[in-house]
Amino acid sequence: MPTPQLTDPATSRWSVLPDALGDVLADLDPTDLLLAVPVPADGLGQDEQAGAALALMGLAAADVEAAHEPSSEAGATTRIPLVPGERAARAVLLVGVGKGTAADLRTAGAALGRAGRGQADLVVAVGALAEAPESAGALAEGIALGGYTSPRWLSEGTTPSKPTVSAVTLVGAVDERAVLRAVARARATMLARNLAVVPSNTKNPAWMAAQARAIGRRTGLEVKVWSDRDLRAEGFGGLLAVGAGSVTPPRLVQLSYAPQAATAATPHVVLVGKGITFDTGGLDIKPAEGMLAMKTDMSGSAVVLAVLAACRELEVPVRVTGLLALAENAVGGAAYRPSDVVTMYGGRTVEIGNTDAEGRMVMADALAYADAHLDPDVLLDIATLTGAARVALGRTMAPVYATDDGLGDALVAAGRATGELLWPFPLVEDYRPSLDSPVADVNHIAGTPVGAGSITAALFLREFVGERRWAHLDIAGVGRSDVDRGLLTKGGTGFGARLLLTWLEEMA
Ligand code: BES
Ligand code: MN
Ligand code: ZN
Repeated sequence: MPTPQLTDPATSRWSVLPDALGDVLADLDPTDLLLAVPVPADGLGQDEQAGAALALMGLAAADVEAAHEPSSEAGATTRIPLVPGERAARAVLLVGVGKGTAADLRTAGAALGRAGRGQADLVVAVGALAEAPESAGALAEGIALGGYTSPRWLSEGTTPSKPTVSAVTLVGAVDERAVLRAVARARATMLARNLAVVPSNTKNPAWMAAQARAIGRRTGLEVKVWSDRDLRAEGFGGLLAVGAGSVTPPRLVQLSYAPQAATAATPHVVLVGKGITFDTGGLDIKPAEGMLAMKTDMSGSAVVLAVLAACRELEVPVRVTGLLALAENAVGGAAYRPSDVVTMYGGRTVEIGNTDAEGRMVMADALAYADAHLDPDVLLDIATLTGAARVALGRTMAPVYATDDGLGDALVAAGRATGELLWPFPLVEDYRPSLDSPVADVNHIAGTPVGAGSITAALFLREFVGERRWAHLDIAGVGRSDVDRGLLTKGGTGFGARLLLTWLEEMA
Protein backbone atom coordinates (compact mmCIF):
# COMPACT_ATOMS: atom_id res chain seq x y z
CA MET A 1 0.00 0.00 0.00
CA PRO A 2 2.05 2.97 -1.21
CA THR A 3 1.68 6.08 0.94
CA PRO A 4 0.63 9.20 -0.98
CA GLN A 5 2.61 12.41 -0.66
CA LEU A 6 0.81 14.22 2.15
CA THR A 7 2.90 17.01 3.53
CA ASP A 8 3.58 18.83 0.26
CA PRO A 9 0.22 18.98 -1.54
CA ALA A 10 0.57 18.63 -5.30
CA THR A 11 -0.43 21.90 -6.88
CA SER A 12 -0.40 23.27 -10.36
CA ARG A 13 2.23 25.52 -11.90
CA TRP A 14 0.77 29.01 -11.93
CA SER A 15 1.47 31.87 -14.32
CA VAL A 16 -0.10 35.25 -14.79
CA LEU A 17 0.34 36.82 -18.24
CA PRO A 18 -0.86 40.24 -19.34
CA ASP A 19 -0.17 39.35 -23.01
CA ALA A 20 -2.68 38.84 -25.79
CA LEU A 21 -4.46 35.50 -25.48
CA GLY A 22 -3.45 34.44 -29.00
CA ASP A 23 0.24 34.79 -28.13
CA VAL A 24 -0.22 32.81 -24.93
CA LEU A 25 -2.03 29.98 -26.70
CA ALA A 26 0.54 29.89 -29.50
CA ASP A 27 3.13 28.74 -26.94
CA LEU A 28 1.04 25.90 -25.52
CA ASP A 29 0.20 22.40 -26.70
CA PRO A 30 -3.53 22.33 -27.53
CA THR A 31 -3.98 18.57 -26.99
CA ASP A 32 -5.02 18.78 -23.37
CA LEU A 33 -5.81 22.46 -23.05
CA LEU A 34 -9.01 23.87 -21.62
CA LEU A 35 -9.73 27.53 -22.40
CA ALA A 36 -12.03 29.11 -19.84
CA VAL A 37 -14.12 32.14 -20.77
CA PRO A 38 -15.96 33.93 -17.93
CA VAL A 39 -19.58 34.95 -18.52
CA PRO A 40 -20.93 37.77 -16.31
CA ALA A 41 -24.55 37.76 -15.11
CA ASP A 42 -25.48 40.41 -17.68
CA GLY A 43 -24.00 38.39 -20.52
CA LEU A 44 -20.88 38.70 -22.62
CA GLY A 45 -22.12 42.02 -24.05
CA GLN A 46 -19.25 44.02 -25.41
CA ASP A 47 -16.60 42.14 -23.40
CA GLU A 48 -13.69 42.46 -25.80
CA GLN A 49 -11.42 39.85 -24.36
CA ALA A 50 -14.15 37.21 -24.15
CA GLY A 51 -15.25 38.01 -27.71
CA ALA A 52 -11.69 37.79 -28.95
CA ALA A 53 -11.10 34.52 -27.08
CA LEU A 54 -14.17 32.97 -28.66
CA ALA A 55 -13.30 34.32 -32.11
CA LEU A 56 -9.89 32.67 -31.80
CA MET A 57 -11.74 29.38 -31.32
CA GLY A 58 -13.96 30.04 -34.33
CA LEU A 59 -16.98 30.75 -32.13
CA ALA A 60 -19.42 33.67 -32.19
CA ALA A 61 -20.29 35.22 -28.83
CA ALA A 62 -24.03 35.28 -29.58
CA ASP A 63 -24.19 31.55 -30.48
CA VAL A 64 -22.13 30.62 -27.46
CA GLU A 65 -24.25 32.63 -25.08
CA ALA A 66 -27.37 30.88 -26.27
CA ALA A 67 -25.76 27.59 -25.29
CA HIS A 68 -24.83 28.76 -21.80
CA GLU A 69 -27.85 28.46 -19.50
CA PRO A 70 -28.23 29.76 -16.89
CA SER A 71 -25.41 32.19 -17.55
CA SER A 72 -26.21 34.35 -14.54
CA GLU A 73 -25.22 31.83 -11.91
CA ALA A 74 -21.65 31.94 -10.60
CA GLY A 75 -19.99 28.59 -11.16
CA ALA A 76 -22.37 27.35 -13.91
CA THR A 77 -20.29 25.84 -16.70
CA THR A 78 -20.86 24.87 -20.33
CA ARG A 79 -18.22 22.89 -22.18
CA ILE A 80 -17.86 23.33 -25.94
CA PRO A 81 -15.59 20.71 -27.50
CA LEU A 82 -13.43 21.81 -30.41
CA VAL A 83 -12.21 19.83 -33.37
CA PRO A 84 -8.81 18.38 -32.50
CA GLY A 85 -6.02 19.78 -34.63
CA GLU A 86 -8.02 22.76 -35.83
CA ARG A 87 -7.91 25.05 -32.82
CA ALA A 88 -5.45 26.12 -30.15
CA ALA A 89 -7.48 24.42 -27.41
CA ARG A 90 -9.27 21.09 -26.88
CA ALA A 91 -12.40 22.75 -25.52
CA VAL A 92 -13.85 26.05 -24.43
CA LEU A 93 -15.35 26.19 -20.98
CA LEU A 94 -17.86 28.95 -20.34
CA VAL A 95 -18.13 29.77 -16.66
CA GLY A 96 -20.67 32.05 -15.00
CA VAL A 97 -19.10 34.67 -12.75
CA GLY A 98 -22.33 36.23 -11.50
CA LYS A 99 -21.79 39.82 -10.43
CA GLY A 100 -18.05 39.32 -10.21
CA THR A 101 -17.80 39.67 -6.41
CA ALA A 102 -14.94 37.90 -4.64
CA ALA A 103 -17.38 35.18 -3.51
CA ASP A 104 -18.66 34.78 -7.09
CA LEU A 105 -15.13 34.52 -8.45
CA ARG A 106 -14.21 31.96 -5.80
CA THR A 107 -17.22 29.86 -6.79
CA ALA A 108 -16.44 30.26 -10.51
CA GLY A 109 -12.82 29.37 -9.82
CA ALA A 110 -13.87 26.21 -8.01
CA ALA A 111 -15.90 25.14 -11.06
CA LEU A 112 -12.84 25.74 -13.25
CA GLY A 113 -10.57 23.84 -10.89
CA ARG A 114 -12.96 20.89 -10.97
CA ALA A 115 -13.20 20.96 -14.77
CA GLY A 116 -9.42 21.23 -14.99
CA ARG A 117 -8.72 18.08 -12.98
CA GLY A 118 -6.65 15.70 -15.06
CA GLN A 119 -5.95 18.32 -17.75
CA ALA A 120 -2.49 19.48 -18.72
CA ASP A 121 -3.42 23.14 -19.10
CA LEU A 122 -6.15 25.45 -17.90
CA VAL A 123 -5.99 28.88 -19.53
CA VAL A 124 -8.42 31.47 -18.16
CA ALA A 125 -9.24 34.55 -20.25
CA VAL A 126 -9.67 36.68 -17.14
CA GLY A 127 -9.53 40.04 -18.94
CA ALA A 128 -10.30 42.92 -16.61
CA LEU A 129 -12.45 40.83 -14.27
CA ALA A 130 -9.90 40.42 -11.49
CA GLU A 131 -7.99 43.69 -11.37
CA ALA A 132 -8.59 44.08 -7.62
CA PRO A 133 -6.18 41.96 -5.57
CA GLU A 134 -9.01 40.35 -3.57
CA SER A 135 -10.75 39.36 -6.84
CA ALA A 136 -7.59 37.81 -8.25
CA GLY A 137 -6.97 36.02 -4.95
CA ALA A 138 -10.51 34.66 -4.75
CA LEU A 139 -10.41 33.35 -8.31
CA ALA A 140 -7.05 31.65 -7.71
CA GLU A 141 -8.20 30.19 -4.40
CA GLY A 142 -11.28 28.76 -6.10
CA ILE A 143 -9.26 27.17 -8.89
CA ALA A 144 -6.73 25.70 -6.46
CA LEU A 145 -9.28 24.25 -4.03
CA GLY A 146 -11.77 23.17 -6.70
CA GLY A 147 -8.92 21.30 -8.36
CA TYR A 148 -7.90 19.56 -5.14
CA THR A 149 -8.37 15.81 -4.92
CA SER A 150 -7.69 13.94 -1.72
CA PRO A 151 -4.99 11.33 -1.49
CA ARG A 152 -5.96 7.67 -1.70
CA TRP A 153 -4.26 4.53 -0.53
CA LEU A 154 -4.45 2.14 -3.46
CA SER A 155 -2.68 -1.11 -4.17
CA GLU A 156 0.71 -1.03 -5.88
CA GLY A 157 0.51 -0.08 -9.54
CA THR A 158 -2.89 1.61 -9.36
CA THR A 159 -2.89 5.31 -10.18
CA PRO A 160 -5.69 7.46 -8.83
CA SER A 161 -7.69 9.14 -11.57
CA LYS A 162 -7.99 12.89 -12.09
CA PRO A 163 -5.08 14.55 -10.38
CA THR A 164 -5.10 18.34 -10.31
CA VAL A 165 -4.48 20.37 -13.50
CA SER A 166 -0.76 20.58 -14.31
CA ALA A 167 -0.62 24.27 -15.19
CA VAL A 168 -2.93 27.23 -14.68
CA THR A 169 -2.43 30.35 -16.79
CA LEU A 170 -4.40 33.49 -16.00
CA VAL A 171 -4.44 35.89 -18.94
CA GLY A 172 -5.37 39.52 -18.35
CA ALA A 173 -4.91 42.38 -15.92
CA VAL A 174 -4.42 40.13 -12.90
CA ASP A 175 -2.48 40.96 -9.72
CA GLU A 176 0.19 38.25 -9.79
CA ARG A 177 1.29 38.77 -6.19
CA ALA A 178 -2.29 38.37 -4.97
CA VAL A 179 -2.60 35.15 -6.99
CA LEU A 180 0.58 33.61 -5.63
CA ARG A 181 -0.33 34.52 -2.04
CA ALA A 182 -3.80 33.06 -2.45
CA VAL A 183 -2.30 29.85 -3.83
CA ALA A 184 0.03 29.68 -0.81
CA ARG A 185 -2.97 29.99 1.53
CA ALA A 186 -4.91 27.39 -0.47
CA ARG A 187 -1.95 25.02 -0.15
CA ALA A 188 -2.24 25.39 3.63
CA THR A 189 -5.89 24.35 3.36
CA MET A 190 -4.87 21.36 1.23
CA LEU A 191 -2.19 20.30 3.68
CA ALA A 192 -4.76 20.37 6.49
CA ARG A 193 -7.16 18.32 4.32
CA ASN A 194 -4.45 15.81 3.47
CA LEU A 195 -3.67 15.25 7.15
CA ALA A 196 -7.36 14.93 8.05
CA VAL A 197 -8.01 12.20 5.49
CA VAL A 198 -5.20 9.93 6.74
CA PRO A 199 -6.71 6.82 8.36
CA SER A 200 -6.14 6.48 12.09
CA ASN A 201 -4.35 3.14 11.82
CA THR A 202 -1.56 5.28 10.35
CA LYS A 203 -2.27 8.61 12.02
CA ASN A 204 -1.53 8.44 15.74
CA PRO A 205 -0.03 11.17 17.95
CA ALA A 206 3.58 10.14 17.20
CA TRP A 207 2.83 10.10 13.47
CA MET A 208 1.42 13.64 13.65
CA ALA A 209 4.51 14.74 15.59
CA ALA A 210 6.73 13.21 12.89
CA GLN A 211 4.83 15.12 10.17
CA ALA A 212 5.25 18.32 12.19
CA ARG A 213 9.02 17.74 12.44
CA ALA A 214 9.32 17.12 8.69
CA ILE A 215 7.19 20.14 7.80
CA GLY A 216 9.03 22.31 10.30
CA ARG A 217 12.37 21.33 8.79
CA ARG A 218 11.14 22.13 5.28
CA THR A 219 9.59 25.50 6.17
CA GLY A 220 12.18 26.81 8.62
CA LEU A 221 10.37 26.40 11.94
CA GLU A 222 11.68 25.44 15.34
CA VAL A 223 9.95 22.27 16.51
CA LYS A 224 9.75 20.83 20.01
CA VAL A 225 8.00 17.54 20.84
CA TRP A 226 6.98 16.34 24.30
CA SER A 227 6.99 12.53 24.54
CA ASP A 228 4.58 10.87 26.96
CA ARG A 229 7.46 10.69 29.46
CA ASP A 230 8.02 14.43 29.11
CA LEU A 231 4.30 15.06 29.51
CA ARG A 232 4.29 13.02 32.72
CA ALA A 233 7.35 14.77 34.09
CA GLU A 234 5.78 18.19 33.50
CA GLY A 235 2.26 17.34 34.65
CA PHE A 236 0.18 17.51 31.48
CA GLY A 237 -2.65 15.64 33.18
CA GLY A 238 -5.35 16.40 30.59
CA LEU A 239 -3.37 15.02 27.65
CA LEU A 240 -2.28 12.00 29.70
CA ALA A 241 -5.81 11.21 30.93
CA VAL A 242 -7.30 11.30 27.43
CA GLY A 243 -4.41 9.33 25.95
CA ALA A 244 -4.33 6.69 28.70
CA GLY A 245 -6.71 4.28 26.96
CA SER A 246 -4.65 4.12 23.77
CA VAL A 247 -1.59 2.03 22.91
CA THR A 248 -0.28 5.08 21.02
CA PRO A 249 0.48 7.64 23.75
CA PRO A 250 -0.12 11.41 23.56
CA ARG A 251 2.27 14.07 22.31
CA LEU A 252 2.46 17.82 22.54
CA VAL A 253 4.14 19.62 19.64
CA GLN A 254 5.31 23.22 19.59
CA LEU A 255 6.23 24.95 16.30
CA SER A 256 7.71 28.45 16.34
CA TYR A 257 7.92 31.05 13.61
CA ALA A 258 9.47 34.51 13.86
CA PRO A 259 9.59 37.04 11.01
CA GLN A 260 13.02 38.02 9.71
CA ALA A 261 12.88 41.46 11.32
CA ALA A 262 11.42 40.33 14.65
CA THR A 263 12.26 42.39 17.73
CA ALA A 264 11.17 42.10 21.35
CA ALA A 265 8.24 44.37 20.43
CA THR A 266 6.93 42.07 17.66
CA PRO A 267 3.50 40.77 18.74
CA HIS A 268 3.24 37.10 19.58
CA VAL A 269 0.26 34.92 18.64
CA VAL A 270 -0.14 31.40 20.00
CA LEU A 271 -2.40 29.00 18.10
CA VAL A 272 -3.59 25.82 19.80
CA GLY A 273 -5.14 22.98 17.78
CA LYS A 274 -7.16 19.97 18.93
CA GLY A 275 -5.38 16.85 17.74
CA ILE A 276 -7.49 13.84 18.65
CA THR A 277 -6.22 11.35 16.10
CA PHE A 278 -9.31 9.22 16.67
CA ASP A 279 -12.24 9.86 18.98
CA THR A 280 -14.08 6.70 20.02
CA GLY A 281 -15.62 8.65 22.90
CA GLY A 282 -13.58 6.56 25.34
CA LEU A 283 -15.49 4.55 27.95
CA ASP A 284 -18.50 6.80 27.21
CA ILE A 285 -18.29 5.22 23.79
CA LYS A 286 -19.87 6.79 20.72
CA PRO A 287 -22.51 4.98 18.66
CA ALA A 288 -21.24 3.68 15.30
CA GLU A 289 -22.64 6.50 13.16
CA GLY A 290 -21.12 9.13 15.44
CA MET A 291 -17.71 7.45 15.46
CA LEU A 292 -17.22 6.85 11.74
CA ALA A 293 -15.88 10.31 10.89
CA MET A 294 -13.73 10.71 14.00
CA LYS A 295 -10.40 10.30 12.22
CA THR A 296 -10.87 14.00 11.37
CA ASP A 297 -11.05 15.00 15.06
CA MET A 298 -7.47 16.29 14.70
CA SER A 299 -8.52 18.94 12.16
CA GLY A 300 -7.77 21.85 14.50
CA SER A 301 -4.17 20.68 14.93
CA ALA A 302 -3.87 20.09 11.17
CA VAL A 303 -4.97 23.68 10.54
CA VAL A 304 -2.48 25.03 13.10
CA LEU A 305 0.34 22.99 11.54
CA ALA A 306 -0.61 24.13 8.03
CA VAL A 307 -0.79 27.78 9.10
CA LEU A 308 2.66 27.60 10.69
CA ALA A 309 4.00 25.92 7.54
CA ALA A 310 2.82 28.88 5.41
CA CYS A 311 4.00 31.73 7.68
CA ARG A 312 7.47 32.06 6.14
CA GLU A 313 6.27 32.05 2.51
CA LEU A 314 3.61 34.65 3.30
CA GLU A 315 6.03 36.70 5.42
CA VAL A 316 3.57 36.93 8.30
CA PRO A 317 4.66 40.03 10.27
CA VAL A 318 4.12 38.66 13.82
CA ARG A 319 5.67 35.86 15.86
CA VAL A 320 3.51 32.73 15.76
CA THR A 321 3.73 29.65 17.95
CA GLY A 322 1.63 26.60 17.20
CA LEU A 323 0.74 23.98 19.80
CA LEU A 324 -0.67 20.63 18.65
CA ALA A 325 -2.44 18.80 21.48
CA LEU A 326 -2.28 15.20 20.26
CA ALA A 327 -3.93 12.14 21.78
CA GLU A 328 -6.09 9.20 20.79
CA ASN A 329 -9.33 8.87 22.77
CA ALA A 330 -9.54 5.08 22.90
CA VAL A 331 -11.10 2.37 25.05
CA GLY A 332 -8.79 0.30 27.24
CA GLY A 333 -8.09 -0.95 30.72
CA ALA A 334 -6.08 2.15 31.54
CA ALA A 335 -8.62 4.55 30.04
CA TYR A 336 -9.81 7.50 32.14
CA ARG A 337 -13.29 7.12 33.59
CA PRO A 338 -16.33 9.30 34.08
CA SER A 339 -16.13 10.63 37.69
CA ASP A 340 -12.31 10.58 37.76
CA VAL A 341 -10.59 13.69 39.09
CA VAL A 342 -7.71 14.77 36.86
CA THR A 343 -4.96 17.25 37.77
CA MET A 344 -4.33 19.43 34.76
CA TYR A 345 -1.20 21.29 33.63
CA GLY A 346 -0.65 24.02 36.22
CA GLY A 347 -2.43 22.12 39.01
CA ARG A 348 -6.17 22.79 38.54
CA THR A 349 -8.35 19.74 39.12
CA VAL A 350 -11.18 18.62 36.84
CA GLU A 351 -14.02 16.21 37.53
CA ILE A 352 -14.67 14.08 34.46
CA GLY A 353 -18.33 14.15 33.47
CA ASN A 354 -18.07 12.30 30.17
CA THR A 355 -14.96 10.83 28.57
CA ASP A 356 -16.27 11.89 25.15
CA ALA A 357 -15.64 15.52 26.12
CA GLU A 358 -11.92 14.80 25.62
CA GLY A 359 -11.14 17.75 23.38
CA ARG A 360 -11.42 20.35 26.11
CA MET A 361 -9.07 18.28 28.32
CA VAL A 362 -6.18 18.28 25.84
CA MET A 363 -6.88 21.89 24.85
CA ALA A 364 -6.95 23.08 28.47
CA ASP A 365 -3.46 21.65 29.10
CA ALA A 366 -2.04 23.37 26.01
CA LEU A 367 -3.79 26.68 26.79
CA ALA A 368 -2.54 26.64 30.39
CA TYR A 369 0.98 25.90 29.16
CA ALA A 370 0.79 28.80 26.66
CA ASP A 371 -0.45 31.18 29.36
CA ALA A 372 2.25 30.12 31.81
CA HIS A 373 5.26 30.01 29.47
CA LEU A 374 4.74 31.65 26.08
CA ASP A 375 3.53 35.14 27.03
CA PRO A 376 1.17 35.48 24.04
CA ASP A 377 -0.41 38.82 23.10
CA VAL A 378 -3.22 36.77 21.58
CA LEU A 379 -4.07 33.17 22.41
CA LEU A 380 -6.34 31.44 19.91
CA ASP A 381 -7.57 27.88 19.73
CA ILE A 382 -9.32 25.90 17.04
CA ALA A 383 -11.05 22.60 17.74
CA THR A 384 -13.69 20.16 16.48
CA LEU A 385 -15.05 20.54 19.97
CA THR A 386 -18.82 20.03 20.20
CA GLY A 387 -21.62 18.51 18.18
CA ALA A 388 -23.65 21.41 19.59
CA ALA A 389 -21.73 23.87 17.37
CA ARG A 390 -22.97 21.96 14.36
CA VAL A 391 -26.54 21.89 15.67
CA ALA A 392 -26.41 25.65 16.18
CA LEU A 393 -24.83 26.82 12.92
CA GLY A 394 -24.72 23.85 10.57
CA ARG A 395 -21.95 22.97 8.19
CA THR A 396 -20.93 26.30 6.65
CA MET A 397 -20.52 28.67 9.58
CA ALA A 398 -18.61 28.29 12.84
CA PRO A 399 -19.03 29.88 16.28
CA VAL A 400 -16.23 32.19 17.37
CA TYR A 401 -15.80 33.23 21.01
CA ALA A 402 -13.54 36.04 22.12
CA THR A 403 -12.69 37.78 25.38
CA ASP A 404 -12.31 41.02 23.42
CA ASP A 405 -14.66 42.41 20.76
CA GLY A 406 -11.87 43.77 18.56
CA LEU A 407 -10.31 40.33 18.33
CA GLY A 408 -13.63 38.67 17.50
CA ASP A 409 -14.40 41.32 14.86
CA ALA A 410 -11.00 40.91 13.19
CA LEU A 411 -11.52 37.14 12.94
CA VAL A 412 -15.03 37.52 11.55
CA ALA A 413 -13.71 40.00 8.96
CA ALA A 414 -10.89 37.66 7.93
CA GLY A 415 -13.41 34.84 7.56
CA ARG A 416 -15.64 37.01 5.41
CA ALA A 417 -12.66 37.75 3.16
CA THR A 418 -11.82 34.07 2.66
CA GLY A 419 -15.36 32.69 2.66
CA GLU A 420 -14.78 30.79 5.93
CA LEU A 421 -17.71 32.26 7.81
CA LEU A 422 -17.69 32.83 11.56
CA TRP A 423 -20.50 34.00 13.80
CA PRO A 424 -19.76 35.57 17.21
CA PHE A 425 -21.12 33.52 20.11
CA PRO A 426 -21.42 34.79 23.71
CA LEU A 427 -19.56 33.54 26.77
CA VAL A 428 -22.75 33.51 28.87
CA GLU A 429 -21.76 34.19 32.50
CA ASP A 430 -25.04 32.74 33.78
CA TYR A 431 -23.94 29.32 32.53
CA ARG A 432 -20.61 29.32 34.36
CA PRO A 433 -22.03 27.88 37.65
CA SER A 434 -23.08 24.78 35.70
CA LEU A 435 -19.37 23.90 35.62
CA ASP A 436 -19.03 23.93 39.43
CA SER A 437 -18.00 20.55 40.78
CA PRO A 438 -18.65 19.15 44.26
CA VAL A 439 -15.34 17.21 44.21
CA ALA A 440 -12.87 19.21 42.06
CA ASP A 441 -12.00 22.80 41.09
CA VAL A 442 -14.16 22.53 38.01
CA ASN A 443 -16.46 20.09 36.24
CA HIS A 444 -15.56 19.44 32.65
CA ILE A 445 -19.09 19.33 31.28
CA ALA A 446 -22.12 21.31 32.38
CA GLY A 447 -23.51 19.46 35.42
CA THR A 448 -26.98 20.90 35.42
CA PRO A 449 -28.78 20.68 32.09
CA VAL A 450 -28.21 24.15 30.63
CA GLY A 451 -28.00 23.04 26.99
CA ALA A 452 -25.73 25.38 25.01
CA GLY A 453 -23.03 22.71 24.71
CA SER A 454 -20.68 24.79 22.56
CA ILE A 455 -20.91 27.74 24.98
CA THR A 456 -20.28 25.69 28.13
CA ALA A 457 -17.29 24.03 26.42
CA ALA A 458 -15.92 27.50 25.65
CA LEU A 459 -16.50 28.54 29.28
CA PHE A 460 -14.51 25.50 30.38
CA LEU A 461 -11.58 26.44 28.13
CA ARG A 462 -11.69 30.03 29.42
CA GLU A 463 -10.76 28.68 32.87
CA PHE A 464 -7.29 27.90 31.49
CA VAL A 465 -6.33 31.03 29.56
CA GLY A 466 -5.58 33.30 32.52
CA GLU A 467 -5.96 36.98 31.65
CA ARG A 468 -4.92 36.55 28.02
CA ARG A 469 -6.74 38.01 25.03
CA TRP A 470 -8.25 34.78 23.83
CA ALA A 471 -10.42 33.53 20.96
CA HIS A 472 -11.88 30.09 20.36
CA LEU A 473 -13.18 28.60 17.11
CA ASP A 474 -15.47 25.57 17.42
CA ILE A 475 -15.14 23.90 14.00
CA ALA A 476 -17.05 20.67 14.73
CA GLY A 477 -19.69 21.61 12.12
CA VAL A 478 -17.45 23.00 9.40
CA GLY A 479 -14.31 20.90 9.81
CA ARG A 480 -15.57 18.03 7.72
CA SER A 481 -17.66 17.84 4.56
CA ASP A 482 -19.95 15.04 3.37
CA VAL A 483 -20.29 16.61 -0.07
CA ASP A 484 -17.89 16.94 -2.97
CA ARG A 485 -19.03 20.27 -4.35
CA GLY A 486 -17.67 23.74 -5.08
CA LEU A 487 -14.63 24.41 -2.91
CA LEU A 488 -15.28 21.38 -0.73
CA THR A 489 -14.20 17.79 -1.09
CA LYS A 490 -15.45 14.93 1.08
CA GLY A 491 -13.48 14.61 4.30
CA GLY A 492 -11.57 17.33 6.10
CA THR A 493 -12.20 20.88 4.86
CA GLY A 494 -9.15 22.62 6.31
CA PHE A 495 -11.58 25.28 7.57
CA GLY A 496 -9.72 28.08 9.29
CA ALA A 497 -6.34 27.83 7.56
CA ARG A 498 -6.96 30.63 5.06
CA LEU A 499 -8.80 32.82 7.52
CA LEU A 500 -6.11 32.52 10.19
CA LEU A 501 -3.38 33.29 7.67
CA THR A 502 -5.31 36.29 6.36
CA TRP A 503 -5.80 37.51 9.93
CA LEU A 504 -2.11 37.03 10.77
CA GLU A 505 -0.92 38.72 7.58
CA GLU A 506 -2.83 41.86 8.49
CA MET A 507 -1.62 41.95 12.08
CA ALA A 508 1.46 44.17 11.87
N1 BES B 1 -15.14 15.33 18.59
C1 BES B 1 -16.39 15.51 19.24
C2 BES B 1 -17.22 16.64 18.64
C3 BES B 1 -17.70 16.44 17.23
C4 BES B 1 -18.95 15.92 16.99
C5 BES B 1 -16.91 16.82 16.15
C6 BES B 1 -19.39 15.75 15.69
C7 BES B 1 -17.35 16.63 14.86
C8 BES B 1 -18.59 16.11 14.63
C9 BES B 1 -16.18 15.82 20.72
O1 BES B 1 -15.05 15.25 21.28
C10 BES B 1 -17.35 15.28 21.46
O2 BES B 1 -17.52 14.10 21.44
N2 BES B 1 -18.11 16.17 22.10
C11 BES B 1 -19.25 15.78 22.85
C12 BES B 1 -19.24 16.53 24.17
C13 BES B 1 -20.25 16.05 25.17
C14 BES B 1 -19.91 14.67 25.65
C15 BES B 1 -20.30 17.02 26.33
C16 BES B 1 -20.49 16.14 22.03
O3 BES B 1 -20.47 17.17 21.34
O4 BES B 1 -21.43 15.37 22.04
MN1 MN C 1 -15.39 13.26 21.97
ZN1 ZN D 1 -13.51 14.86 19.96
